[in-house]
Amino acid sequence: MLRFDTITALRHQLSSLRSEHRTIGLVPTMGALHEGHLTLVDTARRENDVVVSSIFVNPVQFNNADDLARYPRTLEEDCQKLESAGCDVVFAPSVAEIYPESPTLKINFGELETVMEGAFRPGHFNGVGIVVAKLFNIIQPDRAYFGQKDLQQVAVIRQLVRDLSIPVELVRCPTVREADGLAMSSRNRNLSPYEREQATALFKALTLARELLADGHSPSQAKAAVTGFFTGNPHFRLEYVEIVNADTLQLANEVLAPGQTAICLAAHLGNVRLIDNLVF
Ligand code: PAJ
Repeated sequence: MLRFDTITALRHQLSSLRSEHRTIGLVPTMGALHEGHLTLVDTARRENDVVVSSIFVNPVQFNNADDLARYPRTLEEDCQKLESAGCDVVFAPSVAEIYPESPTLKINFGELETVMEGAFRPGHFNGVGIVVAKLFNIIQPDRAYFGQKDLQQVAVIRQLVRDLSIPVELVRCPTVREADGLAMSSRNRNLSPYEREQATALFKALTLARELLADGHSPSQAKAAVTGFFTGNPHFRLEYVEIVNADTLQLANEVLAPGQTAICLAAHLGNVRLIDNLVF
């Protein structure tokens, strides 16, 4: 596995691979890798000749300085995991390499920003859009892999690719969960053992909502049940629960076609903010 920290050296290596007509799959990450990330690498490996993974904790997408400071950084361990997973190239640049100066461009994703992560983390998707557009320009992948765990992020990147005619195929991969249902996340490392036990409530709440919808209850009834589920639980502060169209992320007043309805939530558990969703 090759490792680069400069754009120039990475581009040089990739242009020689491209001249041999090898296809490139990109898995962008912020490191602190877990099975969720490695599953993306595995899928990319099956569908491309070369897999590139980036590790970059992107300051521009953090709207909370504490969250950025506490974000786990485990570069050496990450590189070992990527190598074992069959990744060919790692790109792990410094902040100065990606942002020699703060970007002045602002990306507004319109309607997509008015709900959920867009509404509760102002500026977050602007930062995601800028760094992913940069990675697409630097690496020029044939395909790029993103997790359903961050469903709204997938929609934002789809919009970016459409609006800028970026020649990349996006692949959405299913959420990988722990045995008790908790969605894997780099932020899970910041949970205390007790909070980690409590964290399974997120998946339980999503499952409850899914059962209610499947039994013919309305989205507003399912939402009320999830809100009730967390009411009186002193460990959680539920930020939002929404039932939306899984592609457009716009609020759904009724259950949509199979695979089109998504139940999404965000909650604070101690100092840690967790998000999860189920598509059904
Ligand atoms: P990060 O949180 O490191 O996630 C990298 C990729 O892994 C994202 O596409 C995310 O959706 C996916 N992922 C995370 N947990 C997952 C899980 N349990 N199952 C499946 N996939 C999972 O998302 C980002 O980084 C950043 O915003 C990034 C796109 C790299 C831009 O900075």
